[in-house]
Amino acid sequence: MNSKYNFECQIYNSLDELDSEIQELINSAKRQLKRAYAPYSNFYVGASLLLDNGNIYHGCNQENASYPLCMCAERVALYGAGASESEFTIKALAITASYPTKPLKEVCMPCGACRQVIQEFEMRQNSKISLYLTSENNEIVAIQGIEVLLPHSFNKDLLL
Ligand code: THU
Repeated sequence: MNSKYNFECQIYNSLDELDSEIQELINSAKRQLKRAYAPYSNFYVGASLLLDNGNIYHGCNQENASYPLCMCAERVALYGAGASESEFTIKALAITASYPTKPLKEVCMPCGACRQVIQEFEMRQNSKISLYLTSENNEIVAIQGIEVLLPHSFNKDLLL
């Protein structure tokens, strides 16, 4: 257990400490920040996911004047992959954020709804997704599987 976060994770202080494939995934999530549409919150989120076939899918948050319709970056990326490929396994998901109003000192955690959706994708593919969380500091928090962030979950095993 790490001292800063009360869940199982690895903390990196530079991209150089990670494999080049993951470095590129995190950089592509950062590039997505420019495409985020967040005129209401001014909170910009980028997400990129890597499939085991090497394909990468991207997402960024998409807001709406009718606030409940806003869609998170993670789900834009996940649903994009689901709509684009029939059989696939997600290896890794990088999430980053920028909040010019009050620059972020901590990594961006996925919201509860996105945790639930990430879990559904893990159950579909029967394997864990490695999460790489970053923001505006240099820290990268790596988490092996969504159960770390969503323990005791509601999931499909509870349904008929
Ligand atoms: N947001 C994400 O894109 N992902 C998250 O996991 C947390 C929140 C977005 C939604 C909204 O556009 C903005 O951040 C502020 O909540």
